[in-house]
Amino acid sequence: MEKHQASKFHDALTRERMREALGDAFDEVSVITLEECGSTNDEAKKLALEGVSRPVLIVADRQLAGRGRLGRSFYSPSQTGLYCSILYPTNEPLQNAVSVTGAASVAVMRAIRGTAVKETEIKWVNDLYLDGKKVCGILTEALTGVGAYEAHLIVGIGVNLTTDAFPEEISSIAGAVGGACTSRAELLAAIWRELSPYLKNPSDRSWLEDYRSHSMVLGRQIEWIRGEERRQGIASEITEEGALVALLPNGERELLRTGDISVRVKNFASGR
Ligand code: BTN
Repeated sequence: MEKHQASKFHDALTRERMREALGDAFDEVSVITLEECGSTNDEAKKLALEGVSRPVLIVADRQLAGRGRLGRSFYSPSQTGLYCSILYPTNEPLQNAVSVTGAASVAVMRAIRGTAVKETEIKWVNDLYLDGKKVCGILTEALTGVGAYEAHLIVGIGVNLTTDAFPEEISSIAGAVGGACTSRAELLAAIWRELSPYLKNPSDRSWLEDYRSHSMVLGRQIEWIRGEERRQGIASEITEEGALVALLPNGERELLRTGDISVRVKNFASGR
């Protein structure tokens, strides 16, 4: 349920604003702005199934059923956050394109730095944290075998900008970028500019340097669930593929791949 949110910045999210913010890049994408929807990722899926053949940015003022990783929901109240999906038809084999998950967190981290002048940290796989609170979640999905494309990638991004009250169950974890927040249109345009080179060329792994240097898990004690078992170790490395290497107490190494693993950073209140 949505708590009352004072809309602190009157930041209309229109196609016109997107056109201004994107500048020349406006020609590269279609832009869909919605007052509300269930989930922008679901809107993107519908478009993919209709056979879209160019990138689309779908953005909503609020979501009624925003989705997160591992079946979680994503709280998306009116106007206080950026809730968007980037739909990208590609002819890259899906196994090459999955690197977009890590690239997306770096793109959003750089976009927040460039527009809101805030330095976020990346919690593997692709959550962004600021001052110990999660301010952004990214849900990457893909449809394969639709039309002539190998895959339609869907990068769903939720950034809490001025949300100041969260449902109780996430109130100790969630935070907002706040401060000198820029407009949602500018933030989304900056995300597109940062991410599109990696979507066009997934073999470009230059994002890995920032992914590693802004990691909030490397060198930390972490905990994860493997099957029925709760395991602990030190996050020691991020591989070229973006997988996390954990050093176990017995000296062995375990490779954690993106997918269904949720990592908690130990001794860190908000390490969900
Ligand atoms: C997570 O925190 O696990 C990922 C959250 C992703 C939320 C964004 S908001 C826009 C897009 N639409 C959704 O339903 N989810 C993503």
